[in-house]
Amino acid sequence: MATVLAIETSCDETSVAVVNDNQILSNIVLSQIFVHAPFGGVVPEIAARHHLSNLPVIFDQAVRQAQVDLSRIDAVAVTIGPGLIGALLVGLSFAKGLAIALEKPLVGVNHLLGHVYAARLAYPELETPFVSLVVSGGHTELLYFSDDPVKPHLLGRTVDDAAGEAFDKVARLLNVGYPGGPLIEKLAKQGNPEKFAFPKALMEKGNLNFSFSGLKTSVLYTISKNPDTSKEDIAASFQKAVVEVLVEKTIQAAHLVGCKKIVITGGVAANERLREEFEKRAEQEGLKIFIPPKALCTDNAAMIARAAVELFKREQFCSLDVSADPNLSF
Ligand code: KG4
Ligand code: ZN
Repeated sequence: MATVLAIETSCDETSVAVVNDNQILSNIVLSQIFVHAPFGGVVPEIAARHHLSNLPVIFDQAVRQAQVDLSRIDAVAVTIGPGLIGALLVGLSFAKGLAIALEKPLVGVNHLLGHVYAARLAYPELETPFVSLVVSGGHTELLYFSDDPVKPHLLGRTVDDAAGEAFDKVARLLNVGYPGGPLIEKLAKQGNPEKFAFPKALMEKGNLNFSFSGLKTSVLYTISKNPDTSKEDIAASFQKAVVEVLVEKTIQAAHLVGCKKIVITGGVAANERLREEFEKRAEQEGLKIFIPPKALCTDNAAMIARAAVELFKREQFCSLDVSADPNLSF
């Protein structure tokens, strides 16, 4: 059993959590969505400044809610990348200070590993091997955890935009606001997904990489050619194309490595159409799907803490001179 306090500030959510193995003692998340919405996307400098002012408050709340004596935690964990450098550094500096003051080891966590471990909080019985699709605003990666639970093999990734980024960009084209994912999903519920056959890229068998920039451009052309067309139909057709690509490639990846378990995680995994489609296809294909509840799919510190528990068990600590890496990979 390990009790870990974790800090997540890689993008626009300030979050602190305390986790005891699979049990979440607290998980406070403060989103900056309303601060960045007028700009149509996250402004890195503003994000860092808000983390700086909000982190001490969120930290206090998380500690109070967890009712934990800080001298009894086993480690301080923090996201060290990938993410926005200024935002990451705020969390990392805070975590270093805390680790020094409490005389506890510091665990640096890859944000993507955190997303994967959200599934472990939701499904404590989940063990390797599994294939994981991490699909968020910054990433679309297909990972294979064969035996090492903290070091996956990269099967495929986006060669341009991340899936969440495509949702955000199409929302901007449709002028519906930020962040795009939930807004496109809401519009899509009223639209006809068969109205436009948007392109699905890199669909040849065996290719596990993704590309969403052509899809976004196709949406742009469709809107300029049909200015009176319904936003709902565009949203529904766009969402259908993204979901189909994500589902097909992930299922293909599982078959390719001969693995029966699939973990779907990251902000886009909050999408209901995606969740339904994965469940449906997995049943047809004899695969088992693990998708965390929505609140654990989007950025939060509990997932970072849970990944850190796993690193802590392996004594994978980092030194106090570790730096944040905006492009951190496995
Ligand atoms: O994982 P996350 O909270 O932050 C990153 O690490 O990027 O993911 C945020 C991304 C945004 O691009 C957002 O538009 C997308 O996830 N997203 C969704 C939904 N909810 C959030 N995309 C599609 N459908 C949703 N319901
Ligand atoms: Zn994320």
